[in-house]
Amino acid sequence: MLIHLVTLAGWLTLSIAGSPIWPEPNAYESHGDVLWIPFPLRTAFSCGLSNASNNDFFYERSRGSLSHLLGGWQSWFGFASDVDEDQLGASVSEADAVKAAVGRTLQDISTSKFIPWKFHSRHDAFEPAENQNASMLTSLYIYQSTCPSSSFDAAAFFDGDESYEIDVTEGVARINAVSSIGIINALGTFKQLVLSHSSGVHKTYMTRSSIKIKDNPRWRYRGISLDIARNPFKSWPIDIPSLPELALKGAYRPDLVWSTEDIARIQQYGISRNVQVFLELDMPGHTASIAHAYPDLIAAFNQLDWDTFAAEPLSGQFKLNSTKVHDFLDTLFEDLLPRLSKYSSIYHLGGDEVNRMVHLLDETVQSANFDTLQPLIQSLMQRIYTKAIENNLRPIIWEEMFLEWNLTLVNPHPSHHHIKPLVQAWRSSANIASLLKANHSVIFGDSEHWYLDCGHGVFLSPYPSGHSPPGIPYNTSGGLPTKLSPPYLDYCGPYHNWRAIYTFNPLANISEELWGGIEGGETLMWSELTDSVDLDAKLWPRAAAAAEVLWRGPRSESMLAAPRGGWRCGENER
Ligand SMILES: *[C@@H]1O[C@H](CO)[C@@H](O)[C@H](O)[C@H]1NC(C)=O
Ligand SMILES: *[C@@H]1O[C@H](CO)[C@@H](O)[C@H](O)[C@H]1NC(C)=O
Ligand SMILES: *[C@@H]1O[C@H](CO)[C@@H](O)[C@H](O)[C@H]1NC(C)=O
Ligand SMILES: *[C@@H]1O[C@H](CO)[C@@H](O)[C@H](O)[C@H]1NC(C)=O
Ligand SMILES: *[C@@H]1O[C@H](CO)[C@@H](O)[C@H](O)[C@H]1NC(C)=O
Ligand SMILES: *[C@@H]1O[C@H](CO)[C@@H](O)[C@H](O)[C@H]1NC(C)=O
Ligand SMILES: *[C@@H]1O[C@H](CO)[C@@H](O)[C@H](O)[C@H]1NC(C)=O
Repeated sequence: MLIHLVTLAGWLTLSIAGSPIWPEPNAYESHGDVLWIPFPLRTAFSCGLSNASNNDFFYERSRGSLSHLLGGWQSWFGFASDVDEDQLGASVSEADAVKAAVGRTLQDISTSKFIPWKFHSRHDAFEPAENQNASMLTSLYIYQSTCPSSSFDAAAFFDGDESYEIDVTEGVARINAVSSIGIINALGTFKQLVLSHSSGVHKTYMTRSSIKIKDNPRWRYRGISLDIARNPFKSWPIDIPSLPELALKGAYRPDLVWSTEDIARIQQYGISRNVQVFLELDMPGHTASIAHAYPDLIAAFNQLDWDTFAAEPLSGQFKLNSTKVHDFLDTLFEDLLPRLSKYSSIYHLGGDEVNRMVHLLDETVQSANFDTLQPLIQSLMQRIYTKAIENNLRPIIWEEMFLEWNLTLVNPHPSHHHIKPLVQAWRSSANIASLLKANHSVIFGDSEHWYLDCGHGVFLSPYPSGHSPPGIPYNTSGGLPTKLSPPYLDYCGPYHNWRAIYTFNPLANISEELWGGIEGGETLMWSELTDSVDLDAKLWPRAAAAAEVLWRGPRSESMLAAPRGGWRCGENER
C-alpha cells in the first residue's frame, strides 16, 4: 500500500531575501526608503460590502497574545476567543482559517528572526541604521471582497480565486483578494517582505516604503506527494476504526499509527496555509500490507522471488474476483471517505503498477491474461470511483489505468457531473500527450525529473533465486542484476538536484493546443530511503524549486543565474 499524503496548492513560505519573495510574484514593483514595522501592527480585516479603509474593528498583537480591541471578529465570525491552531477541533470554518492565517502572520512578523546577511557581501552595511529616521508602517488593511463562510466546504474553499494584490504606500499596507485563499496567499507573501534587524527583538522593517504586488499562480494544482507507508517498511499505518485489525497488525510498531484525529488535525493544519491534504491508498497493486490483518484478500503475498510479482518486496495485491475484497472496500471507504471529505475535495484512487503474474496465484482468477483481468480491474476501480464521487471527492488516478488497462469510468451520479477525474502521469511527456489527446485532465511530475527520492543508491537485494516459482511462465531475472555492482544507481538516479528540478519544463514535447488539459503538477517523495530524520533536508529545498515552476510556469536556464532583487547566485563571499 502506498499512501501519499499530498499537500496541494501549497504556498511555500521560505524567505529568500534579495528575491525578496518566493515563489516570485507575477508583478513586483518597489521604490523608496526603509519602512519600519511597529509592534504591535494595527491590523484591520473587512469583507463583502465593507471596505478595509473605513472598517470599525482592529486585530492587534501584543505581549505574545492576540487581543481584540473591538468586537469585529467575534460578531462576524461568531468567535469569542482567538484561534489556537492546535485546537481547531471538529468545527473548523473558513472564517477560522482566515483568522488563524492573519494571527499567525502578525505573530511571525513580530518575532521574525530573518536577517538576510547571507545574501550580502562580507561586511556589507545592508541594514538600516538602528536610529534611522525612516517612515513607519501605521496599519495593515486586509480586504476580502467575498466574506469567508462560517462553515467549511473544501471544494468551495480550495477552488477559490487565488489571486491577490499587496500595496504598501504612505505608511499603509493594503491586501486585497476575492477569496479566502487569495488572502492566505497574500499573507504568505506579505510576511516575506518583512526582515528582522540584528539589533533586537521586534525590530523589523521593509527595505522599501512603496511596494506593489499583483499575483496569481500559473497552475492551480501545485503538489507534494509524500509516501508514508514504505518507511517503516511496507506498513498499514492508518487507523480505520471499523477495521481495527488493519493498523493493529499492519503497523510497523503499535505507536506508529495515524489515528483519525491525527489525520483530521493535519488536514486542518493545512487549511489555514492553503494546503489541501488528501490521501491515496493505492490499489489494487501495492496492497501487501493488508495481508498482515486480512490474508484472505491478498494474492501472491510475500513471495520469495518477489521480482516476478512486484516492483519491490513485499509482493501482494488484491484478489480480483472476490466478494470478500468488495465487502472490505465498502467498509473501508464508508469509514474513511466521509471523514476525509470534511477537509478535502480530492481522493487519489491509486491504480499504478498492477502486476499480472500475481493473478496466476490468485485462486479467484488463475490467469495473467489481459482480457480476463481487464473487466475485473475495471469493476474494482469503478467501485472506488463511485465511492469517491458519492463523497464529493474528485478522483485522481495513475496513468497506467488509462494507458495500459483501458479503464473507462462511468459517473453513477449525474448530479456530480462536474467532478472530472484527474490523471497523474509519472513516466514521460509522451504519455502526458496521449492522455491529453484522449481529453483527460492531467498532472505532471515524472520520475526522470521530479522524483525527490532518486539517486541515493539501489537498496533492493538481488533477485533471490533467479527463478520464477514453478509453473509461473515469467522470467524477470534479467530485470535486476543477481549481483549488485558499482555505482549502485537506483532506477531513477542520479540525484535530481535543485537546478534540475527548477529547469524541468513540463510542457516540453507537448503541443500547445493540449496545454489547457494540464492542471498542474507535483513533486514526489517515495520513502524507501527516507524517514523523519532526513525528510526535511531532502524535501524542502527542492520542493521550493518546484514551487516556483508551479507558481510561475516553466523556468529558463538563464533564470538560474539571474539576480533576484539585487542578489546574484554565487555573489556572496563566504
Ligand atoms: C474605501 O473607502 C475609502 C474611504 O472611505 C475610499 O476612499 C475608497 O475609495 C474605498 N475603496 C473601495 C474599493 O471602495
Ligand atoms: C532624527 O530626527 C530627529 C528630529 O528631527 C533628530 O533630532 C535626529 O538627530 C535624527 N536622527 C538621525 C539619525 O538622523
Ligand atoms: C469469478 O468468480 C466466479 C464465481 O466463483 C466464477 O464463476 C467466474 O468464472 C470468475 N471469473 C473469472 C474471470 O475468473
Ligand atoms: C485499449 O483500447 C485501444 C482502443 O480501444 C485498443 O487499440 C488497445 O488494443 C486496447 N489495449 C489493450 C491492451 O487491449
Ligand atoms: C523532450 O524530448 C527530448 C527528446 O526526446 C528529451 O531529451 C527530453 O528529456 C524531453 N523533455 C521532457 C521534459 O520530457
Ligand atoms: C475530445 O473532446 C473534443 C471536444 O469535445 C471532441 O471533439 C473529441 O472527439 C474528444 N476526443 C476524444 C478522444 O474523446
Ligand atoms: C531467465 O533468463 C535468463 C537470461 O535470459 C536465463 O539464463 C535463465 O535460465 C532464465 N530462467 C528461467 C527460470 O527461465
